[in-house]
Amino acid sequence: MTSFLHDLPCLVRRVARLFMPMLVMGFAGAAVASGPVVGDIASGQNKNSMCIGCHGIPGYKASFPEVYAVPMIAGQNEQYLVVALRAYATGERTHPTMTAISSTLSEQDMADLAAYYANLK
Ligand code: HEC
Repeated sequence: MTSFLHDLPCLVRRVARLFMPMLVMGFAGAAVASGPVVGDIASGQNKNSMCIGCHGIPGYKASFPEVYAVPMIAGQNEQYLVVALRAYATGERTHPTMTAISSTLSEQDMADLAAYYANLK
């Protein structure tokens, strides 16, 4: 019993030493993630393979689960595109496919895709 009490502060210190770096790295990571996200056109082009099926064909209408007119996003305002994608991701705007797709995108993905489409003629 006495030895257990003696070991306790040492144990607490050892656990703290183990977790502190993780905490510090977690905060650093959050700080980086919350900084301004700048879209990259080239990265956006690499990420658009899941979008071109619908948004890349002029006059195309998505037929699942109903027929929807697919909006033209090429040349659209960059900030508008980010806001639209975020709105689908948060459920503010709903559409079966767009909600599903946007939920897989990170803030960086959205910024990259918006930069790519905004600069597409
Ligand atoms: C299955 C077809 C389909 C795919 C795949 C798809 N979209 Fe969409 N997208 C739509 C439809 C349909 C709408 C209109 C939904 C609505 O009425 O809100 C839309 C809406 C949008 C809007 C809002 C446009 C506006 O004018 O408000 C943006 C931005 C967008 N999509 C970007 C993307 C991006 C980026 C991807 C790839 C990551 C993607 N979409 C993949 C069909 C699709």
